[in-house]
Amino acid sequence: MRILAVTNQKGGVGKTTTSVNLAASLAAKNKLVLLIDLDPQGNATTGSGIDKSAIKTSIYDVLIQSKSLNDIVIQCERGGFDLAPSNRNLAGAEVELVNESKRETRLKAALQHLKKDYDYVLLDCPPALNLITVNALTAADAVLIPMQCEYYALEGLSDLVGTIKKVRSNLNPHIEIEGLLKTLFDKRNMLAQQVSDQLTAHFGDKVYETIIPRNIRLAEAPSHGMPILMYDRSFITRCGCLFKTCRRNHTKRNEEVTWLNLKDSVEDLMHYCQTLMKIHQRTKALYKHYRLAT
Ligand SMILES: Nc1ncnc2c1ncn2[C@@H]1O[C@H](COP(=O)(O)OP(=O)(O)O)[C@@H](O)[C@H]1O
Ligand SMILES: [Mg+2]
Repeated sequence: MRILAVTNQKGGVGKTTTSVNLAASLAAKNKLVLLIDLDPQGNATTGSGIDKSAIKTSIYDVLIQSKSLNDIVIQCERGGFDLAPSNRNLAGAEVELVNESKRETRLKAALQHLKKDYDYVLLDCPPALNLITVNALTAADAVLIPMQCEYYALEGLSDLVGTIKKVRSNLNPHIEIEGLLKTLFDKRNMLAQQVSDQLTAHFGDKVYETIIPRNIRLAEAPSHGMPILMYDRSFITRCGCLFKTCRRNHTKRNEEVTWLNLKDSVEDLMHYCQTLMKIHQRTKALYKHYRLAT
């Protein structure tokens, strides 16, 4: 079982989008995945197709009431993964945890009693370096950091790296940085390019080559409670029809359809997401070219 904390104390950098879509991508590769929503906003819960106002128990009950994680897990049929949901109850947890014993290791302890043998556990962290994030860092094997390439991003990153170092010396000696993922990337933006170069200079091969571009379909998917793989299924079918049409027109088949042959690692799964988006962009261009009705 590999536990990855998807962390960045900045809000709106793509933590939840990465968590939900990575969970669905890994599940699509027949991995057993548990996604734990650690944000009181419950965006990962909604994005996984679960109505957060209707859930009776949540991760709050695990952290504060010592309820078993097994008892709160819900199956997300669309995404093919399991979810430990969250809602606004969790907002109080920070204050309540302060006076509890072993307050930093509650999540770690809960994970040790999981009944299912998950391949991956993904922790979608809140936008803060608070006690909940410290619980995530204490429980995790590694940290996946989504980054939006803008000016303040690097400043925030040094705080995060500082916190990871503290956790490493006090609570979790094994924690490492899995990788930095550039999200919401707009290559027309010069600053994004510069920040991106600086990131590579500081973190070297910890920075994924794969970049998640700003893409409207990714932003739309959560409002339908679906990961991009499911939200775009119809479009992938359309894509298939389109390639047939292309062949009839003696147009060479695009190499992108090899996405089904991708290998297993997390890095490759990032490629998986990106390739899907590439297919989408390509389809749009082809539709225009062939003037096909959508
Ligand atoms: N690659 C992307 N392209 C377009 N919109 C995105 C992308 N990634 C995230 N978003 C949107 O940006 C907002 C913030 O993303 P989110 O994943 O919730 O960030 P975080 O969890 O770090 O706060 C959401 O509305 C989300 O739908
Ligand atoms: Mg979030």
